[in-house]
Amino acid sequence: MENGYALRFAFLLLLLVLVFTSSGANDFEHCKSSIKEWASSSLRSDTDTKNGHILKDLLFFLHVPRTGGRTYFHCFLKKLYSSDLECPRSYDKLRFNPRKPGCRLLATHDDYSMMSKLPREQTSVVTILRDPVERVFSTYEFSVEVAARFLVHPNLTSVIKMSNRVRSKSGGISTLEIWPWKYLVPWMREDLFSRRDARKKKGPPYLYGNDSYDMKEVVMPLHDYVNHPVAHDLVHNGATFQVAGLTNNSNIREAHELRRCVITHKILGKYVLQVAKKRLDDMLYVGITEDHRESATTFANVVGAQVISQLMASTVNNSNTTEQGPPSSDSSIDATENQDNSSSTTEAKSENMTVGKLMETYETCISSLRSSQSQRRTASLKKVSPANFTKEARRRVPDNALKEIISLNSLDMELYKYAKEIFQKQHRTMEQELHDSVTPVSSHFLNKRRDT
Ligand SMILES: *[C@@H]1O[C@H](CO)[C@@H](O)[C@H](O)[C@H]1NC(C)=O
Ligand SMILES: *[C@@H]1O[C@H](CO)[C@@H](O)[C@H](O)[C@H]1NC(C)=O
Ligand SMILES: *[C@@H]1O[C@H](CO)[C@@H](O)[C@H](O)[C@H]1NC(C)=O
Ligand SMILES: *[C@@H]1O[C@H](CO)[C@@H](O)[C@H](O)[C@H]1NC(C)=O
Ligand SMILES: *[C@@H]1O[C@H](CO)[C@@H](O)[C@H](O)[C@H]1NC(C)=O
Ligand SMILES: *[C@@H]1O[C@H](CO)[C@@H](O)[C@H](O)[C@H]1NC(C)=O
Ligand SMILES: *[C@@H]1O[C@H](CO)[C@@H](O)[C@H](O)[C@H]1NC(C)=O
Ligand SMILES: *[C@@H]1O[C@H](CO)[C@@H](O)[C@H](O)[C@H]1NC(C)=O
Repeated sequence: MENGYALRFAFLLLLLVLVFTSSGANDFEHCKSSIKEWASSSLRSDTDTKNGHILKDLLFFLHVPRTGGRTYFHCFLKKLYSSDLECPRSYDKLRFNPRKPGCRLLATHDDYSMMSKLPREQTSVVTILRDPVERVFSTYEFSVEVAARFLVHPNLTSVIKMSNRVRSKSGGISTLEIWPWKYLVPWMREDLFSRRDARKKKGPPYLYGNDSYDMKEVVMPLHDYVNHPVAHDLVHNGATFQVAGLTNNSNIREAHELRRCVITHKILGKYVLQVAKKRLDDMLYVGITEDHRESATTFANVVGAQVISQLMASTVNNSNTTEQGPPSSDSSIDATENQDNSSSTTEAKSENMTVGKLMETYETCISSLRSSQSQRRTASLKKVSPANFTKEARRRVPDNALKEIISLNSLDMELYKYAKEIFQKQHRTMEQELHDSVTPVSSHFLNKRRDT
């Protein structure tokens, strides 16, 4: 009797193993062929984006979250493009209307799949990449920072009631409606409230410890954050997925299955990288968060200069462009208080602009933006005290935690390395051309620069 059971059990087990391995193998084969097909069709359709270094009619700023793109948006792009030239609701794909006539600037956390809604041949793409480990830290910290602002409320129920009321009143976009924050912030917020409730229930003494990245009485530890399924959905390899158009927020239906395939079968990531690298090659500009100064200068000279001449040329024939309603509320990147209200007609912004003036404007803008950001951060983090994400706390994060983040972001590690090479080349070319303004493409805009 016993033997019979054991035998039957063993047989069942064998059967199960067989079923699982064969379905696993099938899944791998299915995934591999779908990814390869997607990669080759992406590479093919991208080849018609010729003349990558010349600005086309529409500028698409593919804003990877936590790369510092907000300063480029506010302090460069908003200084060049008037709000009537901005594609409406850029950060909110649900309301995005690519057919707005004459719209020339699209800045968004949406991924590359947005291109399927845009006139591909008339679109230039720019992006900024950041060291993946830094980006993960920053994403974690910003999730906590924004979520902590809600701790002024007595409980989660009242937070949600409040948010609904504010939303229906303002009609604007807030961080909470923008991918990926619309998932990351409520998740973190719920977590902060439950930790606060548990703390209240238990009462003192609290054994906080001295590591802000692992202070579980107050905030979700970094380790738990990076290993949570939500982080796998939204954070890890986020730059690669965004450039590939395979984020959790993609416009393309197949993207979600492809994404699952790459996450399940890591080896297929190489095809995604191949597409992402090719797309970076074809971009008008690739910046590097860490090389901030050089990136900003290159942006001003490569992108800024061309935007200036393009807009000046078009204002000559477009003298009847008028303001179309108020600028969209721009808390998209959570900086409502930094709206500038300098006159916003096309002419006023581009007429007398030069690269030199643009850089000056940028410097002033960025310092005020940074100081308001850091004030806001300090005030928010006070609410999770004694946790505080300082440089010193960061330095004490153990090596194995960093190694874990690196391994969870291996595609982004490689893409970042590649982006740095592209950037260095572009920066060198730009400097070369500044010294030696005979190169046909740039001499055109360099002359403008000299006007200063
Ligand atoms: C949450 O706070 C509100 C406002 O103070 C209060 O009316 C409500 O009873 C609280 N709910 C819970 C579940 O504590
Ligand atoms: C934090 O606490 C640990 C263990 O108590 C101690 O070894 C370490 O020196 C402390 N670090 C700092 C910066 O206070
Ligand atoms: C995207 O990720 C969030 C957070 O994990 C999840 O709730 C949502 O369902 C995902 N969306 C898709 C289309 O997978
Ligand atoms: C302005 O329009 C005229 C005639 O419609 C055209 O010839 C000229 O090239 C245009 N100029 C610019 C800068 O687009
Ligand atoms: C100027 O406005 C008129 C009417 O609004 C429009 O038909 C015309 O195309 C506009 N001209 C230009 C150059 O945009
Ligand atoms: C924008 O305009 C308002 C009212 O006209 C003014 O109070 C505010 O200071 C201005 N902001 C900036 C940044 O100039
Ligand atoms: C541009 O410069 C001209 C001449 O210096 C000046 O008259 C005009 O007001 C300036 N326009 C703007 C928008 O500053
Ligand atoms: C957190 O650290 C920053 C920078 O060191 C400091 O300015 C701030 O006061 C600290 N916040 C708290 C609540 O200790």
